[in-house]
Amino acid sequence: MRTALITGANRGLGLEFTRQLLAQGLRVIACSRAPAPAGELAALVDEHPQRLQSLPLDVADAEAIAALPARLATVGVSHLDVLINNAGVLVSGERYGALRAEDLARSFAINASAPLLLTEALTPLLTQGHTAKVLCVSSQLGSIAQVSSYRSVSYAMSKAALNMGMRRLAAELGPRGITVVAMHPGWVRTAMGGAQAPLDAPTSVRGMLAMLARLTPGDGGRFYAYDGSELPW
Ligand SMILES: NC(=O)c1ccc[n+]([C@@H]2O[C@H](COP(=O)([O-])OP(=O)(O)OC[C@H]3O[C@@H](n4cnc5c(N)ncnc54)[C@H](OP(=O)(O)O)[C@@H]3O)[C@@H](O)[C@H]2O)c1
Repeated sequence: MRTALITGANRGLGLEFTRQLLAQGLRVIACSRAPAPAGELAALVDEHPQRLQSLPLDVADAEAIAALPARLATVGVSHLDVLINNAGVLVSGERYGALRAEDLARSFAINASAPLLLTEALTPLLTQGHTAKVLCVSSQLGSIAQVSSYRSVSYAMSKAALNMGMRRLAAELGPRGITVVAMHPGWVRTAMGGAQAPLDAPTSVRGMLAMLARLTPGDGGRFYAYDGSELPW
């Protein structure tokens, strides 16, 4: 059975990726920092006990990432076809002159370092997958070509770093049959995107998954928007 692993799966885009991949018939490993015994993800597990496992994973915890493959073996995961590095943080209200070192460090750990560490840790499972694909959920704010302000600088820097890491992963993993890309989900109504965002999560995720399904190995290393357009670096 095709198997996907998603980080930050308890809410927002991660929860929607979980819903849509289940609807497509995949087995889903839904990782979240602190899986709740109740809530939308727990209800999905009740609905799909055979195909959905909820596992704890704080992506800022490098030891937890290193231990994940052994944990996956205990629930019978022998391959991965899709890895969605979705978990992310945005420090709101950053202003020039008031930047905090801990916000920069946390943004880099979660948004830039974790996707690389996790992809490295899961590479043996991805090489066992069927034309495996790795989606790094990035952001247009990480595009250096489109900078217009100092706003959300920790977030923007960490997503630009993620894009570089994604390119490096694509170069390393492409020859092993694993396609790695980055995607901007659009501006989406989630806790991060806020209520004013024009897009809903189902539309954004439908677009990203359709794009992912169309990717061929030659597309590795690219930076797409949810609608399939390509973004400038
Ligand atoms: N919404 C937008 O408009 C937008 C635009 C561009 C890019 N994105 C990107 O899309 C992705 C998903 O964002 P979203 O809009 O769904 O935001 P969200 O609703 O705020 O959800 C963020 C998710 O990341 C998880 N997360 C944060 N830190 C974590 C950690 N240390 N370990 C594990 N999980 C962690 C959160 O888990 P907790 O519940 O435990 O905090 C939550 O599940 C992010 O990478 C974001 O940068 C979003």
